Amino acid sequence: MSGSLEQWRAVDRYIVDTLIAEDEALQRAREDAHQAGLPLHEVAPNQGALLALIVRMSGARRVLEIGTLGGYSTIWLGRAVGPEGTVTTLEVNADYAALARHNIERAGLSSTVTVVAGPALDSLARLIDADVDPFGFVFIDADKPNNPRYLDAALKLTVAGSVIVADNVVRDGAVLDADSSDDCVQGVRAFLEQLRDHPRLDATALQTVGSKGWDGFALALVR
Ligand code: DHB
Ligand code: MG
Repeated sequence: MSGSLEQWRAVDRYIVDTLIAEDEALQRAREDAHQAGLPLHEVAPNQGALLALIVRMSGARRVLEIGTLGGYSTIWLGRAVGPEGTVTTLEVNADYAALARHNIERAGLSSTVTVVAGPALDSLARLIDADVDPFGFVFIDADKPNNPRYLDAALKLTVAGSVIVADNVVRDGAVLDADSSDDCVQGVRAFLEQLRDHPRLDATALQTVGSKGWDGFALALVR
């Protein structure tokens, strides 16, 4: 039984039931996304809570999310920045963006969160061109082959002290395969090497098990 997905799920359920206050807006954001047939890729409740804690620990007031999906993690981030903060979240799929806006509105976060529909690389280029104020926290959770390009953009949109988190850097251990023909694996591997090599980044990555299986996230600090 040790190490089984079933047991990881049970422990995640226990942790969430014991520790995580997921209200109706969060529950419905997840359920409506599933109902609408969106991929089951939103962060787990305890991961959402972790993102929110990191945002609050970092003191970030401006958050950038790459990959909105149905807005589940966005709600955690929107609550974490508080009423003075903002979240800009980028979503390639117009239908997902519309659902996310609905979920965000129900959570009372419409004035905190801006959902930008369209390819994230285009939206990022526009943010860079507009010379927007730097973001204190960036969450990268979109199409994995573009992770290196998302990190390049994030570095142009952050300052010393900004935090960057990327989801899904382990993927059932697939990350180990240097010769993988999977663009996602190559994107994640290139991203991790970029974290290692970039002179302005201190970074680590952690494996996780839980309701989303065996995966992990990377955490970086801009200096
Ligand atoms: C996938 C993407 C995600 O962001 C995630 O958390 C899990 C899986 C995927 O593309 O398969
Ligand atoms: Mg993810």
